[in-house]
Amino acid sequence: MEKKTLIDVSHPIFRHVADAANDLGIDAYAVGGYVRDQLLGRPCKDIDFVCVGSGIELAQKTAEKINANIHVNFFKNFGTAQFRCGDLDVEFVGARKESYDRGSRKPVVEDGTLEDDQNRRDFTINALAISLSKDSFGELVDPFGGVAHLAEKKIITPLDPDITFSDDPLRMMRAIRFATQLDFEIDPITFDAIRRNAERINIISQERITEEFNKIILAPRPSTGFLLLEDSGLLKIIFPEFQQLKGVENYEGKGHKDNFFHTLQVLDNITKNTNNLWLRWAAVLHDIAKPPTKKFVQGEGWTFHGHEVLGSKWVAKIFRRMKQPLGAELKFVQKMVYLHLRPIALTKEEITDSALRRLLFEAGDDIDQLMMLCEADITSKNKDKVKRYLQRFETVRQKLKEVEEKDRVRNFQPPISGELIMQTFGIAPGREIGIIKEEIKEAIMEGKIHNDYEEAYRMMLSLGEKLGLSKK
Ligand code: CTP
Repeated sequence: MEKKTLIDVSHPIFRHVADAANDLGIDAYAVGGYVRDQLLGRPCKDIDFVCVGSGIELAQKTAEKINANIHVNFFKNFGTAQFRCGDLDVEFVGARKESYDRGSRKPVVEDGTLEDDQNRRDFTINALAISLSKDSFGELVDPFGGVAHLAEKKIITPLDPDITFSDDPLRMMRAIRFATQLDFEIDPITFDAIRRNAERINIISQERITEEFNKIILAPRPSTGFLLLEDSGLLKIIFPEFQQLKGVENYEGKGHKDNFFHTLQVLDNITKNTNNLWLRWAAVLHDIAKPPTKKFVQGEGWTFHGHEVLGSKWVAKIFRRMKQPLGAELKFVQKMVYLHLRPIALTKEEITDSALRRLLFEAGDDIDQLMMLCEADITSKNKDKVKRYLQRFETVRQKLKEVEEKDRVRNFQPPISGELIMQTFGIAPGREIGIIKEEIKEAIMEGKIHNDYEEAYRMMLSLGEKLGLSKK
């Protein structure tokens, strides 16, 4: 009978590993994410090899066969080894039996068979192996029906889910992350176990949780992941502020938007236009401070005054807790949240050049991203209303372009420097310099003078005169 090879094993690495395993007299397999991604037709640059023996020895032998100069990294404590082979990242490990002490992340590890190794993996679709043994080279080893589950688009644990999740509670996040990335369903029994074990996420390091969370946000439809996180009870543990967005209050027959669903719609909207994680995070956080700023005002209805200001402060608090980067990425998200109402406000009123210039000045080079966020923020059940807003929004975009071409305030550099002011009036550093610079900037923003050296110079002279300074 013809051998059934489901996976492309034509890459030379598979032959090298097979030969090395043969020399050592052990069985070796490619396993996990690589096999899954091959079957899904997704690109994958990491291959994990598992052998019934020493992963370290197999790595060494394989590297020798490829090229004596390959640098192998050994992680003796974990019994793993890794090297790069062209653009591939390859990792080797001996098959293990593994269990974890409850309440601790310290694994108790013993040598095991391939079956033991597959048993301790997270999902059936991640427990597939390709044999690299001589007599079965390229054959799939699929003890839990992983191939069928790929076809059925199902995430399900190989063992009792309570055991799989208890071994590593991060897998609850991973289940939701894979369901979101791949648009798969989580099997109901597996999902019930996530609900039951949600609290156990607390023993996992924040860095690992955040890595999964960021992957959910980078998926093609992140709302899927947020809905599953909410439904499972994980969201209120890992991101309580977002959970708080849920719900509608009614007063005197007036309700407000459910900010949970609104935010998810904004996030899905922006996802269609950008892969920038931080801009997507800005969508996640743009209304985060609506709950604490909510007020019902007679004659006005529900208001959320200042939610953009408080929200931008909360971004720092949330990023710090989530162990997100605290440099330029944080600043960018804060700026987006702080400014997110501004372009929309412009669509509601007469658009003046000075308002456009101020917006360009404050947003700087991030103006296009801000406009993208604000456009995504236009959500309503009323299709006509959305259409009307989007049209007015296009007008704002067009006018911003015109004003920028004319006045170049997007990367505003004061036309008159403090140095020049000091030289002109023969004065030392002091408050007058700040006053003159600020007045010139204001005059440019208001359109009283152009963003032009000559005009600004003349204004500096007359301002100096008013302040009792004379030209040297
Ligand atoms: N794995 C697991 N439990 C975890 C993490 C990983 O069982 N908490 C196993 C799975 O078999 C997984 C393999 O280790 O396929 C490799 O893990 P990793 O590289 O983190 O994930 P991938 O499945 O390769 O997917 P991705 O690259 O998208 O993270």
